[in-house]
Amino acid sequence: MHDLLDLDRYPLHDPAGAAALAEVCRRDLAAKAMFNLDGLLRPAALEQGLAELHPLIKNASFFHRRSHNIYFDDNIPGLAPDHPALKHCETVNHTVCADQISDSVVCRIYEWPPLIDFLAAVLGKPRLFTMEDPLARANVMTYRDGEALNWHFDRSEFTTTLLLQAPDAGGAFQYRCGLRSDDDPNYEGVARLIAGDDPEVRTLPLGPGTLNVFKGKNTAHRVTPIAGARERIIAVFSYYEQPGVIFSAEERLGFYGRAEPRPAPS
Ligand SMILES: [Fe+2]
Repeated sequence: MHDLLDLDRYPLHDPAGAAALAEVCRRDLAAKAMFNLDGLLRPAALEQGLAELHPLIKNASFFHRRSHNIYFDDNIPGLAPDHPALKHCETVNHTVCADQISDSVVCRIYEWPPLIDFLAAVLGKPRLFTMEDPLARANVMTYRDGEALNWHFDRSEFTTTLLLQAPDAGGAFQYRCGLRSDDDPNYEGVARLIAGDDPEVRTLPLGPGTLNVFKGKNTAHRVTPIAGARERIIAVFSYYEQPGVIFSAEERLGFYGRAEPRPAPS
């Protein structure tokens, strides 16, 4: 893994070094709802990973276009259907699924046990497991000129991503901490955010090769539209506290346009 990851800077392979790093990341996560390992992926590994992905992104990615609100849910109890917090926006990207990249740099990193153990330590979980879903476990999302991931709250407690390529312009990761809590949905504040009237929105500069872990359940976030020919390419890793998690066939169809894994190349 030394050839792929900068383990001199981030000693995930060494129990004492990983424990010390986990402590720093735990503090970041508590203070900012996220932590970053900038430049975790070495430049040569980025190049190799992108070379593996480019033909798939170009010829075999799933075009995903979805109109949604910030909750991914049109029925919020107590909220009128025309409330501005429920305003719809559009998310567009191109997805490559795990079954298409089983033997890739991206999946080797996703499955590397010391990384999984490190994430569990930072998040305060006894253990984490890779997802077993053949399509969903690790995805690569590509956003092209004009495409974006619009405002939303995550349904999962945390999200792990690895940025592989940043666009020339646009494609900024923006987030708003403290907008709502489990006790206070703050619908008026959500409406102001969606209307572009929230001065507390922050932008996170992310460089290629950065691993980001983000707690997005109560922290609204988006990726602004990409501008220019260079795509934003990001790997999304799914880990769970239990082994054996898979999507239903309906969920796979909704996210990927197919329910069955592709046959392995002969
Ligand atoms: Fe998200």
